[in-house]
Amino acid sequence: MNLSKIKEIYDSPPIDNEINIGGWVRAFRAKKFIELNDGSTIKNIQCVIVDGKIDQDILNEINVGCSLIITGILIKSIGKGQSFEIKVSDIKLIGKSDSEKYPIQPKKHSFEFLREQAHLRIRTSTFSSVMRIRSKLAFSIHEYFNKNGFNYIHTPIITSSDAEGAGEMFKVTTLESKDLAKKSIDHSNDFFGKKTSLTVSGQLEAETYALGLGKVYTFGPTFRAENSNTSRHASEFWMIEPEMAFYDLNDNMDLAESFVKYILNYVLKNCDEDLKFLDQRLFKEESQKPKNKRNDLSLIEKINFTINNKFTRVSYSEAFDILKNSNHNKKKKFEYPIDKWGSDLQSEHERFLVEKHFKAPVIIYDYPSKIKAFYMRLNDDNKTVRAMDVLFPGIGEIIGGSQREERLDILQQRMAENGIDEKELWWYLDLRKYGTAPHSGFGLGFERMVMFCTGMSNIRDVIPYPRTPKNASF
Ligand code: 4AD
Ligand code: MG
Repeated sequence: MNLSKIKEIYDSPPIDNEINIGGWVRAFRAKKFIELNDGSTIKNIQCVIVDGKIDQDILNEINVGCSLIITGILIKSIGKGQSFEIKVSDIKLIGKSDSEKYPIQPKKHSFEFLREQAHLRIRTSTFSSVMRIRSKLAFSIHEYFNKNGFNYIHTPIITSSDAEGAGEMFKVTTLESKDLAKKSIDHSNDFFGKKTSLTVSGQLEAETYALGLGKVYTFGPTFRAENSNTSRHASEFWMIEPEMAFYDLNDNMDLAESFVKYILNYVLKNCDEDLKFLDQRLFKEESQKPKNKRNDLSLIEKINFTINNKFTRVSYSEAFDILKNSNHNKKKKFEYPIDKWGSDLQSEHERFLVEKHFKAPVIIYDYPSKIKAFYMRLNDDNKTVRAMDVLFPGIGEIIGGSQREERLDILQQRMAENGIDEKELWWYLDLRKYGTAPHSGFGLGFERMVMFCTGMSNIRDVIPYPRTPKNASF
């Protein structure tokens, strides 16, 4: 059957023509007005039942949540609230719904409740808007890289190397639990004949391809077994990792800024209705907060602000001084006071720099080597590495990246310092033996970008089925 999409109908209404649409009932009033939604847009379409036209038995079965195919003529509406409606000539009841039990009632539900109904929450306005934006964002990412000469590569999900060297990996094994309980586990009998895990990042493999194809990117799921139960950490999340040969850290920062601005622009241009809806939602939520806790900018203003402002670039040492000398620090308002050069910045510090001090997205670069991964290029001061983190308002770190260490001897030394076995990463070292070149890259946390574009404050609400510590339902 040829079904029209509600979005197409709104884009160019075929007035006076007969149309068929399939969707789910959002509301049914006075046994006469059906609000139908098919997911193609945030808007419902009003379907008006003319007296006597539709069998009473069918009307008695129509409830919130059931699925219908409706046939009728699209007419100009005489009622308020919509410019056209469907004069219904036929209704096929495809799937009944027990309205008493259907969890998604036409009223406000808490996000906590909806997480427990993750299979049905997509039928709410908020979640359908978020997920449509998520989809558009993914497309814009591929579009950006495709337009800019990057090759999309697929790095392995099952891996034997710990790319970040942080030991936060989920094991992949077919060994029996009795073998796993042993003090030293023998992986020679395991499925791959060695210890394997789910990847935390495709970077190391992407580097090998960048030193052959020039410019590459990955866009795939990554996994971290870190026990951080925050609103910005998931155990399974999607990451975009570009990697470019002959790029230094400045080129890397330029790319990150241009890339992020491109995808934000794309969302502004292509997700107008959904953004407006989420903007309103956030406005209502903010207006319930005390005045001094409210965000100054609305969702759309925040996106525009990010596109129109140059990201502030400061070194870790500069950022450290700003934080250390801030009144906030002197008055002991940070949970983690800033004291010694070399300590990692906490999200409260990042947010202070972005939201209070610079009032703009910030790129911090040249971090102390001790707090960053082994592969980052060592500076001449022997204390800092060519790392960069991009920090966003309300989110904190959204991108982490670096120029890579391309010098064999220094990389070997950094691996030794970090207790990384050269035998495991022989192929990574090979890159530095055969035609090494300066190169750089970064990782954008996809969910954090979706959070930024939708104003959702919990990562669990921007991915269909979130995986977090103690939670893998569905
Ligand atoms: O800073 P990270 O750990 O960097 C890397 O993995 C590098 N290998 C990237 C590269 O240079 N190719 O992670 C990159 C980004 C973070 O900035 C953050 O946005 C996101 O990934 N991220 C997470 N997002 C959700 N849940 C988590 N547990 C995340 N951990 C990192
Ligand atoms: Mg990071």
